[in-house]
Amino acid sequence: MRNLSLFFILFLISACSVFQGPYRTVPMAPGESAQEHFKVGKKYMIATQGRYSTSAGKKMMELGGNAMDAAAAVSFVISVERPQSTGLGGGGFLLYWQPGMESPDAYDFREKAPLLAKKNLFLDKEGNEVPRKSLDGIFAGGVPGLVAGIIESHQKYGKLPLATVIGPAIELAEKGFPVYTELAKALNYRQDTLKSFPASEKIFFKKGKILKEGDLLVQKDLAKTLKAIQKNGRDGFYKGWVAKAIVAEERRRGGLIRMNDLRRYNVVKRKPMKGTYKGNDVYSMSPPSSGGIHVIQILNTVEPLNLGHYGIQDARTVHYTASAMQQAFADRARYLGDSDFVSVPIKELTSKEYAKKIRAKIPADRPLTKEEVGHGEFDGYESPETTHFTIMDAEGHVVTSTQTINGYFGSALVIPGTGIVLNNEMDDFATKVGAKNLFGAVGGRNNLVEAEKRPLSSMSPTIVLKDNRPVLAIGTPSGTRILTCVAQTLLNYLEHKAPLVNAVSAVRYHQQWFPDELRVGEFGLNKETEDKLRAMGYKINHKNLGCRVQAISFENGELIGVSDPRGQGMADGE
Ligand code: GLY
Repeated sequence: MRNLSLFFILFLISACSVFQGPYRTVPMAPGESAQEHFKVGKKYMIATQGRYSTSAGKKMMELGGNAMDAAAAVSFVISVERPQSTGLGGGGFLLYWQPGMESPDAYDFREKAPLLAKKNLFLDKEGNEVPRKSLDGIFAGGVPGLVAGIIESHQKYGKLPLATVIGPAIELAEKGFPVYTELAKALNYRQDTLKSFPASEKIFFKKGKILKEGDLLVQKDLAKTLKAIQKNGRDGFYKGWVAKAIVAEERRRGGLIRMNDLRRYNVVKRKPMKGTYKGNDVYSMSPPSSGGIHVIQILNTVEPLNLGHYGIQDARTVHYTASAMQQAFADRARYLGDSDFVSVPIKELTSKEYAKKIRAKIPADRPLTKEEVGHGEFDGYESPETTHFTIMDAEGHVVTSTQTINGYFGSALVIPGTGIVLNNEMDDFATKVGAKNLFGAVGGRNNLVEAEKRPLSSMSPTIVLKDNRPVLAIGTPSGTRILTCVAQTLLNYLEHKAPLVNAVSAVRYHQQWFPDELRVGEFGLNKETEDKLRAMGYKINHKNLGCRVQAISFENGELIGVSDPRGQGMADGE
């Protein structure tokens, strides 16, 4: 199947509404072209969720830069191009690999809770959650880490000057660009909250009306902030006039971020999670992301079942994979949090022995109920936004990074004079034990708010090596669905041997323990599979998952780039 020519697959994806082969794949999103989403190159490949972003990455390569120069340029441009998803007021994770490394570097530039933050920040005097306090406005924002993370990783591995890699973002913010479909939808969705903050209204409204598709979005204040970073590096954001503007707004609105929080913000270089799958080494993000641990746990659970014999969307494949996801989310709620603050049983959760115990509990003919799925016992011991991009060159340098301000437009609060949209990542903490976040995921005590702690994430930038050479790098946005979309794409490619285009465009499903349902994404699985699953007892909920996988593989000397056909984006290279 992997040998189907790319041309034939492109024809199927662009020509058909839904491809009904041995498994269902989605068609291109309206207005998007297969030629822009799937590319084959010999030298390098870049897959992002934005045309300007991919083009900026290419420009760096043409200027003699490397994968990290391209990654830094993409990160700054995507902050301008996708203000609904990511930005200077957010954070993220990045995995970097170059030949000769023992394992990839994992950069953690996740937001941190301010020093003044307390466990009960989002509760009233009776201990009840204050509606939307962790989602909208000043308290929703953690101390941003994106600028520090991009500068630190670029300083270590980039070749071009910071002034060069930040140039395209400044130009785009100053000149502006027409609002595209996804941005228009997000603006429409968040317009009431954006309107309640004058600095947000100034940018995203025209004559009292929210910008609509085709209107020009110009971000002059953001260009000024980018110029401050261009001139003074990290200090241009964490000290000086930008930092003062952030703290002034925090104080004015009774918020908690102070100069000291900004000065102390630290990027952490972590050891990535490592798993194996049938002769491949799988590296993904470590805590404070739950992503890497649970991607590996899901792969471990299904590995010996050889689901490739059944096929990608056979009811048995879906049943065992969904059951593995269900268990992962029960463990996530119990154990996961920032490992700098709480002890996370990483070795146990990612072990093949634990996976064997999970498999033994899964009945062949029915799903487990949510009550039957307890978390593992070990001795001693997240509106779906965010964005992802992947870059790989033929020599084997790889950057894969997920960056976010959490929900659409984060907290919806723009810091006056800076163009910075403040994240609402504080909602990724458990506001109290058992409370659900924006993505309906249950939170546990390990993920309660604490000063300087990083909220639990699902972001899973992942690199797969075979014989010490990168063969696949992927990631996606979409809250808790990130880790199940990444795990499924890995299985589609590594276990079911689907061509990368199909591995990404195959219809996906998601099980996160609570709610007790099998969520099936765009266009659904074929009827026969869904009928069988219902007969087994599955409650199927057809609801888009929001994932937009950006993937690059290295096959027979060629780099194949795929930007998920479900959304806007572009893969390009040479
Ligand atoms: N804010 C989404 C995540 O970090 O998983």
